Amino acid sequence: MDNGWEASAQAWISLMGEEGDFSRKQVLDKPMLERVRLRQDQRVLDVGCGEGRFCRMVAPYAQKVTGVDPTDSLLQRAASLSDQTFVKAKAEALPFENASFDLVLSYLSLIDIADAKAAIEEMARVLAPGGRILVANLNSWNTASQSEERGWSRSEGGGTQMTVDHYLQEYSHWGEWKGMRIRNWHRPMAFYMHEFLQAGLSLSHFDEPWASGEGRAESYNRAPYLYLMEWQKARD
Ligand SMILES: C[S@@+](CC[C@H](N)C(=O)[O-])C[C@H]1O[C@@H](n2cnc3c(N)ncnc32)[C@H](O)[C@@H]1O
Repeated sequence: MDNGWEASAQAWISLMGEEGDFSRKQVLDKPMLERVRLRQDQRVLDVGCGEGRFCRMVAPYAQKVTGVDPTDSLLQRAASLSDQTFVKAKAEALPFENASFDLVLSYLSLIDIADAKAAIEEMARVLAPGGRILVANLNSWNTASQSEERGWSRSEGGGTQMTVDHYLQEYSHWGEWKGMRIRNWHRPMAFYMHEFLQAGLSLSHFDEPWASGEGRAESYNRAPYLYLMEWQKARD
């Protein structure tokens, strides 16, 4: 099933640059890196690594970083910018032995993955006992607001409001912005919670970080956009 990523790859590379977009630079990078830095000497896997920006950021704090992604053009870009290991694969079928990583990352990739249940099972399988899965995700309220008749609009009182609908359902939609056309998935928060719990993991950290800076950060901080969660695998 096409998800639009190969056709959108060059636009994505331009959008990311070296610093990332607003959500990364002004919201997620700092708290994500703080969690990574809690423990070092880790074998790190970045699932849905894209053009490898976060792999490059994590590299100073890890023994070895491996990125996986199914999109050729993004992987080629990642490999051209660092000597880390990049592997073409889907999250639903990770080509690694059981228990081979201490930290598994999913940085805004779960919403792009068609079979997120299989992906979460795979992330848990390749995680070593005592290891962590660190996830940055679009808030499900946010993904339930992304269609033409939803999202931000003017309210009768003259202010702005965000409209959310069909929250409890699971569905995909095509989002278009800045030269990209990509298929994303909306799933309620309970879906993700159930699947990580079902995989035998315990929640060890949760956050909804504030955006820093001015301008866009102000409207951003009014609504549920992004969250971080970290899941721990029990030691044997
Ligand atoms: C929004 S980008 C995030 C990339 C990177 N983690 C970042 O934060 O810049 C989503 C990524 O998920 C990848 N992707 C799409 N389907 C996937 C799948 N089934 N398994 C793993 N990655 C997938 C895309 O190729 C894309 O690189």
